[in-house]
Amino acid sequence: MDRHTKAAILCAGIAAPSADNSQPWRFAWSGDDLDLRIDADRSGRVSDTRYVLSDLAAGACLENMIIHARSLGYAADVQTFPRPDDELWAARIRWRLDTESDQSEPLAGAIEQRHTDRRFPWGGSITTDTQARLNAQARLIPGQRLYWPQTPRERKAALSVIRQAETMRFRSPTLHAELFSSIRFAAGWHTACEEGLAPATLAVEPPLRPVFQALRRPAVMAMLNRLGAASMLGWRSAWLPIRLSPGLCLLVIPSTARSDVLAGGRALQRVWLQATLDGLSVQPYAAAGVLSLGFVAVEPAFQQPLSRLGSALHDVCAPGHGLVFLRLGYARSAPRDRSGRRALASFGALQ
Ligand SMILES: Cc1cc2nc3c(=O)[nH]c(=O)nc-3n(C[C@H](O)[C@H](O)[C@H](O)COP(=O)(O)O)c2cc1C
Repeated sequence: MDRHTKAAILCAGIAAPSADNSQPWRFAWSGDDLDLRIDADRSGRVSDTRYVLSDLAAGACLENMIIHARSLGYAADVQTFPRPDDELWAARIRWRLDTESDQSEPLAGAIEQRHTDRRFPWGGSITTDTQARLNAQARLIPGQRLYWPQTPRERKAALSVIRQAETMRFRSPTLHAELFSSIRFAAGWHTACEEGLAPATLAVEPPLRPVFQALRRPAVMAMLNRLGAASMLGWRSAWLPIRLSPGLCLLVIPSTARSDVLAGGRALQRVWLQATLDGLSVQPYAAAGVLSLGFVAVEPAFQQPLSRLGSALHDVCAPGHGLVFLRLGYARSAPRDRSGRRALASFGALQ
């Protein structure tokens, strides 16, 4: 494999999504074998103890690399978590030229186009054909599936779980600190940034921006929470956009074993790329699934609500663990601002 091909594969990898745009990936080549590792400096935060979010991002990155390499005529032999005593080593990938392959990999064309869109409202309707295409992509990764709340009752139950989780992110001081620490207010409201969340990508309405910015201070958040601010924010960030979008589905993984979470990231990416090819806008909501796994250390006052959230989510999508909701719909235009990426060299050895 030449240097150029290796760099192209890594570029596809880092175009993958990651929670809070943390990009928690490290790469190392040995010959034509590639090690994908979780970056110790960009993982393991409060919501990422047990690396659930990082493993999802690693899975998405891995899938992008496999898809792009396939379009270049390479097949991948993947070993996930090769050494149990090395918890940051997510995968070893052995690339080999695949002369049998016809190199047709339609999803490859969507890798650079895929992005998160937090705007609303979105129109259209998600046809059963579209749902079937997205389902098929999830199922290509063994054990993974999408759940679609169909009836008003199912949609209401899903919405309630998402809203409660998003509300908790503003109510719990620990989750609030984590959320706001990833927003790069220094970038201003009009520019992208290469790591973390640029305010410009958050779709906050101009009149609300000063208030939102003030909320990063724990004392302001605590004071406004006495007036119900967290509930309002849960409503505005989740309930309203989802109500005003035609589609909602949930990625369900078979178990919380790390290899299944990583496989969930691969499925998430395939679904998102297919949605991109279909012209759909996508916003993930991960708080409900991740918080209800019970791994996140929040204040004691939130532990009971969290376990209720876990049961409610289980009722929504059992069997399995619902991990990431996806809001879907057709936007009239592409968002002006998109999250950037760090320079490739900062992810480790290029050769
Ligand atoms: C595991 C995971 C969880 C995410 N959770 C959320 C979320 O709860 N809310 C949200 O708006 N975006 C969420 N995102 C989207 C990321 O913030 C986004 O991928 C990142 O900022 C990079 O932007 P891009 O997708 O436009 O490339 C999540 C992404 C991943 C991979």
